[in-house]
Amino acid sequence: MTDIDKPAQILCVVGARPNFMKIAPIMRALNNPDLGLSACLLHTGQHYDAAMKKSFFDQLQIPEPDIDLGVGSGSHAVQTAEIMKRFEPVLDEIIPKAVLVVGDVNSTIACALVAVKKNVPVIHVEAGLRSGDRAMPEEINRVLTDQISDLLFTTEKTAEPNLTNEGIDVGRIHFAGNVMIDTLLFNLDRAVSTEQTIEASPYPESSALPDLSKGYGLVTLHRPSNVDEPIVLERLLKVLGQVSTELPLIFPVHPRTKNKIAEAGLEPLIANANVYCLPPLGYLEMLGVMKDAKLVLTDSGGIQEETTALGVPCITLRENTERPITVEEGTNTIVGSDPDKILACVSNTLETGGKSGMVPELWDGKAAERIAKIISDWVKTLS
Ligand code: UD1
Repeated sequence: MTDIDKPAQILCVVGARPNFMKIAPIMRALNNPDLGLSACLLHTGQHYDAAMKKSFFDQLQIPEPDIDLGVGSGSHAVQTAEIMKRFEPVLDEIIPKAVLVVGDVNSTIACALVAVKKNVPVIHVEAGLRSGDRAMPEEINRVLTDQISDLLFTTEKTAEPNLTNEGIDVGRIHFAGNVMIDTLLFNLDRAVSTEQTIEASPYPESSALPDLSKGYGLVTLHRPSNVDEPIVLERLLKVLGQVSTELPLIFPVHPRTKNKIAEAGLEPLIANANVYCLPPLGYLEMLGVMKDAKLVLTDSGGIQEETTALGVPCITLRENTERPITVEEGTNTIVGSDPDKILACVSNTLETGGKSGMVPELWDGKAAERIAKIISDWVKTLS
């Protein structure tokens, strides 16, 4: 095979849980033999627990990574630097046509930065989202990754002006839709029922199983701004306790949050409430619990989008969102961490059924196919 016949190799990077659902449809689409591309997968190892990684690879049928950098946890500086150090020799060896990164985690910026300095073009999927909040580590990762990307794929229309306002050439930007929703639609029929999930995942520290026959709410919390400060975390856990007197809550606990609750000795706030804790769930289990919830309380980015696609009311425990379409068109309401506002929004949602919303443009399950086609045309223009 001559070099010209060889499929152009795209090196795809994942690191943390929200990356896994984004990369699954991209890998599938890039490996479509008609496109003349090939994809290989690198996992930085930012998330390494079985519950944070392995079950996602299995359930989403993501091929085992060709390369695993095994970086693990650390401060932002340590984690980012370690990924960069370990990624550079890999890039030297593989010499791909481009490096594709998704989302906004530390692995995203670390690998993009190494690639751009080696003159390897960078493709960013989920570009242009902005919360305007530079205290959020992900916002820094978003702004910087977009600045050094050659090809930028957006999930919603507001992303394009965000990018052009930062000086990015409009010719590099493509509104392709939402790959996270590709994965959701692809897997909806396979979602595991809430009953099955609870049966299969007894959590030793959890309180007794609440009666879920009249419905339940789903909670996720992991943002540093919500869980790192014991006072803020305590306030939020107390609100969850109050909400749980009206609506039982299911709470799959992120390892970061679990550690913070333990360090601050706050377990009794949950143990004495109608809150059922679970370990971090696999994708299909989470999808099942989310789809049948009466409402979702979260500080996650991806869950704001998934609830909008599912038509489930979402109450976001942050002061802002980088995904405004979920508020303008979807089911999302931003309430922050003020207990009175959270309680008022929950009561209103339970009384009225919450925002109904509609599914945003191009959240149609075909985003990865559009992305792969554009990459295939673009690769032909590279020297
Ligand atoms: C990261 C992303 C965040 C994303 C989240 C989803 C950044 C800056 N943040 O945050 O955008 O929403 O993933 O989960 O990249 N830990 C484990 N096992 C693991 C992974 C983490 O125990 O497999 C614990 C460790 O104590 C670690 C802490 O969780 O220090 C935080 O992990 P880290 O990857 O630094 O950030 P996340 O909070 O998970």
